[in-house]
Amino acid sequence: MQMRTCGRSGIEVSVLGIGCWSFGGSEQDYWGKQEQYDANDVVAAALDCGINYFDTAEAYNDGRSEEALGIALKGRREHAVISTKIGPDNAEPAVLREHCEASLKRLGTDYVDIYYVHWPITKHPIKDAFDTLTALKAEGKIRSICVSNFGVEQLTEALQTGAQIDLNQLAYSIITRAIEVELVPLCMDNQIGVVPYMALMQGLLTGKYRTVDQIPPNRRRTRHFRGDVPPARHGEPGAEEETMHVVNSLREIAQEIGVPMERLSLSWAMAKPGITSVLVGARNREQIQSNAEAAEMEMTPELLARIDDLSRPLLEKLGANCDYWQGGESSRTR
Ligand SMILES: NC(=O)c1ccc[n+]([C@@H]2O[C@H](COP(=O)([O-])OP(=O)(O)OC[C@H]3O[C@@H](n4cnc5c(N)ncnc54)[C@H](OP(=O)(O)O)[C@@H]3O)[C@@H](O)[C@H]2O)c1
Repeated sequence: MQMRTCGRSGIEVSVLGIGCWSFGGSEQDYWGKQEQYDANDVVAAALDCGINYFDTAEAYNDGRSEEALGIALKGRREHAVISTKIGPDNAEPAVLREHCEASLKRLGTDYVDIYYVHWPITKHPIKDAFDTLTALKAEGKIRSICVSNFGVEQLTEALQTGAQIDLNQLAYSIITRAIEVELVPLCMDNQIGVVPYMALMQGLLTGKYRTVDQIPPNRRRTRHFRGDVPPARHGEPGAEEETMHVVNSLREIAQEIGVPMERLSLSWAMAKPGITSVLVGARNREQIQSNAEAAEMEMTPELLARIDDLSRPLLEKLGANCDYWQGGESSRTR
């Protein structure tokens, strides 16, 4: 498994990381019920494949994702790089400290390797928040300060606090390329690695859905799909035809070169400039094993350019807004 360094932190992560949002989930949660033995199996399968990076958040299933990851990693903590995330509304210094301690407790560990601010901070002074994170790092509670969903303006403000920021975790896939326009170059100029999430677009880029109707409604909330059908909330017309054209053409390319489509989708993301580790959620051992093969796949410049050309019209239609759930003035990423 290929390893890459997180910004200037010296932390080495596998080029494929495991998204643990579904861990600890119940019937009412976004990803539905996930049993602890499935989380244990996903973690064991990942470690067997050389994957060392596991991503969670205090917000995922009200802390139960952190708990489930902590249990699954029991006795193997030193083999893993753990990232968790503080909610932006919890960024007031005393609250931030309390929440960091609570995450450590749920994870059953003394330190978190990578600590992200989950979304841009809007309700608290940014300088105070990043100074607190820098103090937590000096105390050894966290090893690296990182952000998620921060746009050009927000990342620039965060950098002005003087904190060392190592990663920006962002929505990025063949059909969500807005970050390429301005944000990836800014990250690269500042030695900040990009960690893509939704690299498989919640299953769409595995090729398992051939029409929009086949996609579960809660996976149709992004600006690719009509905004007037709940639970979508962006209010834009969407780009369903263009989206399905890319997906169905990608399936043909995958068949032509003889690789599963999920492998092609992940390998494309791994090969793009500025990328540190590509996150993907997985239900079971089989999905992990297939996804791990993406790290071994040769992505030629010709194939990369062919896929870029295929998805460029969709990028142009959806535009440079990096928030794929909220449009125009309500975009949370500036
Ligand atoms: N920072 C943020 O704001 C943010 C936001 C979202 C996610 N994330 C992170 O990113 C992680 C990934 O979540 P995501 O929402 O981006 O989902 P995703 O990784 O795009 O999709 C995960 C789903 O893809 C399907 N899948 C994965 N591998 C497969 C394979 N080989 N064959 C067929 N299907 C496969 C599974 O769907 P089925 O359930 O249908 O089997 C799985 O549940 C999260 O766990 C979280 O850590 C971060």
